[in-house]
Amino acid sequence: MLGGMTNSELVAPSRPRVILDCDPGHDDAVALVVAAHFCDVQGVTTVAGNAPLEQTTHNALVIRDLIGLDAPIHRGSDRPLVAAPRHASSIHGKSGLDGADLPAPTTELDGVDAIEFIVETCRADEGLWLIPTGPLTNIGRAFKMAPDVANRLAGVSLMGGGSFGNFSASAEFNIWADPDAAAIVFDAFDPSTPGNPDGRLVMAGLDVTHQFQLTPSRIERTRKLGGTLAPALAGLFEFFSAAYIERHHPGAMQGAALHDPLAVLAVTHPELFEREHRHVVVETRGEHTAGMTVIDERLLRERSAPNCEVLTAVDDAAAFALVVEAVAAFT
Ligand code: BDR
Ligand code: CA
Repeated sequence: MLGGMTNSELVAPSRPRVILDCDPGHDDAVALVVAAHFCDVQGVTTVAGNAPLEQTTHNALVIRDLIGLDAPIHRGSDRPLVAAPRHASSIHGKSGLDGADLPAPTTELDGVDAIEFIVETCRADEGLWLIPTGPLTNIGRAFKMAPDVANRLAGVSLMGGGSFGNFSASAEFNIWADPDAAAIVFDAFDPSTPGNPDGRLVMAGLDVTHQFQLTPSRIERTRKLGGTLAPALAGLFEFFSAAYIERHHPGAMQGAALHDPLAVLAVTHPELFEREHRHVVVETRGEHTAGMTVIDERLLRERSAPNCEVLTAVDDAAAFALVVEAVAAFT
């Protein structure tokens, strides 16, 4: 029993209305496919992260075309709020989506700026989920510009953070890349601040996403779906996994951790996850800890009230079956 709700009592809305905020990115591309299959995608917003903004926006357009997604794409922030821009080419290659020969986009970007789009859409339609799978710059800016927006959401389900790091010993990439924006988002759900929202903040951090790895057999299973999308994704998976295996000690990883789709599945299939309700803050200035998500695990009565559902475990076989189902739907 966690925070008054058992896991089985967490029921997903049949087709949640979502905005996916992303920096594609191999795993962001899969998050897009999964969201397109299981959600009503109201829009896709892009942010600089894995690669510069022009590239992540280009990649979002490419994936939208490949799956024929009928949702606008809005370009967002080209740099973090305060930190210097830093990208993840060591994992995703220079293009952000290295490993497949992808077609050029044939559709256009929507003109409206991502921040304006997020604010206007959330004001017009109560009960949306924001699903950020990149640095939180766009969401932090939207919450700063329009503090009422957080109150209108069903919640934010993000990929980021964890009890260990990947881009530093203590920080995960999405939080490390823009800790100031991440702090705005986590603080916005602190229940001790009067007026803060009742909505949910769900964190798919490295503790859970490292349980969801690509394996050679999962890559083959994807490739065998055939068509255009599945073999392209298999090529992306090969590149992504090779980068992970090269960066880790031998045997440490079977392949890449497929992080980002878990932030979508946490909304659409919450029963696949175990979670702990915790108070989480973001370290913005530590010499060795900037970008760390500090999770209060103390058993003391003085522990602060939880602002976040920290995902701790996933049924990875069931989650991958859902990825396969989503990819097959666009094949
Ligand atoms: C996160 O960083 C990026 O490399 C991935 O797309 C994911 O969102 C994992 O740390
Ligand atoms: Ca990402």
